[in-house]
Order: sequence, then structure tokens, then C-alpha cells
Amino acid sequence: MRTHARCLPLLALVALGCGRATPSPGVTITPSTSAGTYAPRSDLMVIKLLDGAPRTWPSKGFPPLKSARNPTATPDRDMADDLRKQLGKNILDPATDLPPAIADQLSRLMGADFGTPAEPRVRVPDWNDITIAANVRPNPEKGVFANLGAAAVAIKKWKPTAMQATRADWDAANAAKGELKLDDAALARGSVVYRRWCLQCHGPTGAGDGAHAIELAAMPRDYRQGIFKFVTAFPKPDPKQPKKGMGPSGKPRRADLARTIRKGLDGSMMPAFPTIGDKELDDLVSYVIHLSIRGETEFATIARAMQPTEDDPDFGGMELAWLFDQNLMFVLYNWGLAARSPIPIPPENVRTDDDRLLSAFKGYKHYNSAEFGCAACHVNYGREPQLKWDMWGGVVQPRNLPLGVYRGGRQGEDLYARLYGGIYPSGMTAFHTTLATGPTYLDQPDKIWNVVHFLQALADPRARQQLQNPATLTKFKERLKTNNDLFLNDLNGVKIDP
Ligand code: HEC
Ligand code: HEC
Repeated sequence: MRTHARCLPLLALVALGCGRATPSPGVTITPSTSAGTYAPRSDLMVIKLLDGAPRTWPSKGFPPLKSARNPTATPDRDMADDLRKQLGKNILDPATDLPPAIADQLSRLMGADFGTPAEPRVRVPDWNDITIAANVRPNPEKGVFANLGAAAVAIKKWKPTAMQATRADWDAANAAKGELKLDDAALARGSVVYRRWCLQCHGPTGAGDGAHAIELAAMPRDYRQGIFKFVTAFPKPDPKQPKKGMGPSGKPRRADLARTIRKGLDGSMMPAFPTIGDKELDDLVSYVIHLSIRGETEFATIARAMQPTEDDPDFGGMELAWLFDQNLMFVLYNWGLAARSPIPIPPENVRTDDDRLLSAFKGYKHYNSAEFGCAACHVNYGREPQLKWDMWGGVVQPRNLPLGVYRGGRQGEDLYARLYGGIYPSGMTAFHTTLATGPTYLDQPDKIWNVVHFLQALADPRARQQLQNPATLTKFKERLKTNNDLFLNDLNGVKIDP
């Protein structure tokens, strides 16, 4: 109760989160006008996959949301018009629609819990502070003592509802903070490395809006959605638990971020950084997570505050602090969940080149089956552009597969993970359930590996030729017959055409 005693007398005066709205002693937070702070979010926010599909690639220098914001300046008037129709429903504009008082208070909460670029941190508020934010709603028409009494009663009676954050979520958030290595010292070191190598593209808040960003086809990743594309985590939802916040989909494991930084994303402007030392890389990964958690907490809070419901008509004062605290805890919780949910990758199980080629034949069948349906998006193996929106309102094309250029890595295991978990923010399907359904073949039980072998053959001219050669098919039919492999039936009358 010590914290309550410290806070309550203040309540009637300032309807703000205790100890956080004002910086805690010993920590200096520079005013938001200074270059030393993170700027508050003011750009357009895509809150779910956009409707329809882009008709063309955007012009150089005009990413779609920039066009939506400046419809008169863009060469892509069609795109701007399509997007402007979705403003309010799928796209929010905090710069004009977030009330200034809320924006102001939010930036104080952000400063208190996430610090500055020079002193970055991820601070989970004390449970006592959170309890206060959850319960105390000062009534300006009543006196200080009446407010204190009401607050004490509310805190005593409090039981979080199923959708609200609990003490267990607070524990999980603190545990995740430890697992993700988000201590102040690591973050401060990581911030230095980030400013040296990454800021020019990914921008000071991780918005993907650095000075070099604007000319690129695929924009540098905006970390502020807390979502990534090339991940090896696949947390399955617990049917007994309600989804917490925006959920864990698209969250990377630390190893995924490290891989992206070390190896780059082939076929995009994201370079490889092979010379960054292991320790620096470790700190850098922490810092990217900091920016991402920071951005997602802000994103989720703004999105909710701009879409009030009947239960929560407005988000001023303590209401906002409580919303913010919950989002922060849920975001950390979800990162923790992803960290503990690596995609299980079974052994590859091909001993000879022939095994691999036969597996590729099977993969070819899966690829073109209704069950996998790859061709619905990768038309003519991805050679024909079918433009789609991603979760940031960026334009993506289902990969041109015969080129064999994969952003998330070219190892069999990388491709396996991609197919198992899909590419969540690009709308590519997760095929993990497909493993357990449909016929399984005798000597190659894992269908995803078959598809991986097919993809590898597709991108290798020699293997592709072998696939197309009728003599190979005849040879395999013999082998399948000897092994009583049911797959034989599938190969009758097949003409392999990739
Ligand atoms: C020349 C510009 C550029 C620089 C410099 C750069 N990036 Fe990137 N980065 C990109 C682009 C472009 C993408 C998105 C590619 C895509 O969407 O396919 C990206 C994507 C990413 C992703 C997202 C991966 C995913 O799974 O979604 C991470 C993480 C990342 N970069 C981290 C970094 C870090 C850390 C640094 C500094 C060491 C850095 N980048 C430097 C351009 C850059
Ligand atoms: C609903 C549409 C959709 C379906 C179905 C789909 N994909 Fe994709 N796929 C995409 C999109 C979009 C991308 C590009 C994502 C990006 O760059 O952000 C992609 C990318 C890929 C990549 C590149 C991964 C990387 O690391 O760069 C591979 C490989 C791939 N798809 C294979 C497949 C296979 C095999 C299937 C069927 C088992 C399949 N896809 C089904 C939409 C789809």
C-alpha cells in the first residue's frame, strides 16, 4: 500500500498515472521537442490487411500510404483513391484524429516506460501502479477525501475480467523481459550499434522511414507493428485463453532477427552485416525488440483510443494509463510466447539424390493440389505478378519461385519453416495443418519436406530438367511399384511442366 499512499493525494489534482506520467526521480526525460527523444507516432496506421489488391506497383518514392496522404501530389492517383476509401475502417490517421490531450499523455507514458534513444528501456510498471491505473477514476466534482475513499473501495473489490490483464500477465511480462534480454545496459549498447548501421533505413523509431528509405521498392521494415515476415516461431493459440492484445502472430524469436541481420534479406535492399561482432549483434537484437515492443504498445493504444466502444467511451486520464499498461504487458507476453514456440522441423529424410528427386515429384503434386493451393497465389510458379497488400499497406508479389531467391534463407530448414508458418503479414497461408491430413506416402511422410524439395528442384535448372524428363518418371514408377508406394497412382498420366 506504500505506493497508493504516495499516489492518492495527487489524484484529485492530476488524473494521470502515478510515478509514470511524471518521470521517476533520477531519470531525466528531455521534452518531446528535443532531438533526443523518440517522436510520437503521427503517420497513417494500417490496422488490418487492406481490402482488394493493388493494381500496380507504386511509383518510386511514393509508398502507398504516402500517396494516400497526398492524393494530389502522387502519380498513383488510383492507389491513393483506393486507400482513401479505407481510411477510418482499415487505416487510421493519428495526426488528425487522436485528440491532442490523449496524444500528449501517451507521449509521457511512452517516455516513462521506453526512455529515449540514448537511454532506451522497457519498464514494466509496478503492479501497484497498474492497480491504481485500473481502478482509480477521480471525480472532479467530489472532494479529495471522497475520491480517496472511492479509490480504496474500487481497488479492494477489483477482479480483472477475462479480457483484462491480470497479475499472471504481469509476471509473464516480467519473465519475457528477462528472456528477451531487455536490460537497460544491453539496450543502450544496442542503440549505438543501431544508429551506426540501421537508422539510415529503419529510422529513429523503427518506422522504416530513414533517409535512405524512400526510394526503395520494399520499404525497410517498420518495426512498430510488432510483426515480422521471416520468423521461425509459430505459437498456437490456446483455445481456453482469450487472445491477449494483438496476439503473438508474426513475432520473431531472437534467432530470427539475428539471422536477418547477419545474412540480410536476399532480393531486397536489406543488406547482410557479416562483420558485426557477436556481442554487438546480441545487443542490436535487443534494441530492435525494444523498438518493436515500444511501437506496438503505442500502436495498440492509439488504435484502441481512436476506436472507442460503448464501455470505454473515452481514454483520458487513468483510463489511458490502464489501456497502455495492459498493452505493454500483452505485447511482452506475446513475445515471450513466440520465443518459446519454435517451429518443429523434422529431419530431412533423403539419403540419395534419387530420394530427393522423388520427394520433389511428390512436392510437385502437393504444390498443385487443392490442399496446398500454392498456384492460387504463385501463378505460373510466381512468374506472373499477382500484387497483394501486406500488413503495413506495402505492395508484395508472391515470390517468383524458379528464381530461387528467398528472403528468409535458402536452406531447406528455412523454406520448411516458411511453409509451415506461412508469411503472416503478407497473407501467405500457414501450411502446418496440412501435415496431418490427406494421404501420406510410405517412404517420405512429411509433405512439407516434399514441397521444399520441389522448390529446390524448381530453382535448379538441372533438377528441373530431370523432373520434366519422362525417363525419370518411368524410373520412379518402377521404384514406387516395388515399394508398394501409393504415390504411384498420383503419377499416372502426369506431365510435369514447371
Ligand atoms: C539499405 C537499407 C537498409 C539498412 C541499412 C538496413 N535495413 Fe533492415 N530492412 C531493409 C528493407 C528494405 C527491409 C524489408 C525487406 C522486405 O520487406 O522484404 C528490411 C527488413 C528488416 C527486418 C525485418 C525482417 C523480417 O523478418 O520481417 C529487420 C529485423 C531488419 N531489417 C533489421 C535491420 C537492422 C538491425 C539493420 C542494421 C544492422 C538494418 N536492418 C539495416 C533495409 C535496410
Ligand atoms: C494466399 C497467397 C499465397 C499462397 C496460397 C502461397 N503463397 Fe507463397 N507467398 C505469398 C506472398 C504474398 C509471398 C511474398 C511475401 C513477401 O515478400 O512479403 C510469398 C512468398 C513465398 C516464398 C518466399 C519465401 C522467402 O523466404 O522469400 C516461398 C518459398 C513461397 N511463397 C512458397 C509457397 C508455396 C510452396 C506455397 C504452397 C505450399 C505458397 N507459397 C502458397 C503468397 C502465397
